[in-house]
Amino acid sequence: MTQNSAKNKLTILAISGSLRENSSNSSIINAAAGFADDNINFTIYKGLGSLPHFDDSKEPAPEVLEWRQLLRNADGILICQPEYAFGVAGVLKNALDWTVTTADLAYKPLALITAATGGDKAHAALLLTLNVLMAKLTDDTTLLIQYVRSKLDEHGGVKDPDTKMAIKSVMNSLVGLMNEAAAVNE
Ligand SMILES: Cc1cc2nc3c(=O)[nH]c(=O)nc-3n(C[C@H](O)[C@H](O)[C@H](O)COP(=O)(O)O)c2cc1C
Repeated sequence: MTQNSAKNKLTILAISGSLRENSSNSSIINAAAGFADDNINFTIYKGLGSLPHFDDSKEPAPEVLEWRQLLRNADGILICQPEYAFGVAGVLKNALDWTVTTADLAYKPLALITAATGGDKAHAALLLTLNVLMAKLTDDTTLLIQYVRSKLDEHGGVKDPDTKMAIKSVMNSLVGLMNEAAAVNE
């Protein structure tokens, strides 16, 4: 029995690179969750802020072991990130640094959405990181949403129709990659 037939549902683990209350990126993740159909188990990872700072000269903390396990167990990953000071948020980079030696993202279907004011620098930087971690991405599973705040309503809903369609399209492409990977593993 394959991993996927045992679980029946495919699992997406979603990670917001922002810890801020009322984060735009959390709003984008909520919108993405709405586009995941019934055969997807969509889980939002909440532990980013509790991970210790990367230091591989110490035994990894239980939070790190759990983080790695969640990544390994997921069929696909969705990362939504802001751009802070022209770069990737430190908390997100820290979490990814913990996966370098254990290769938890290797060949893992992954979508990256960068939602910021500009965001292009963090987007490019994180793509470099994800490529070196050997995550499985395509142009269709990456999206840069600029001026994100103007695209959200006061409740954090996505009010811009083009942005909604673009998020939906990224989700469809991610599920496509996940199905391809599941077929190979059968
Ligand atoms: C400390 C800080 C630094 C920021 N730096 C940038 C930046 O360099 N480039 C950019 O496009 N937006 C920048 N922004 C704007 C954020 O991208 C924007 O507020 C976005 O909504 C943040 O995402 P979040 O709400 O999910 O945290 C910055 C915001 C903060 C709070």
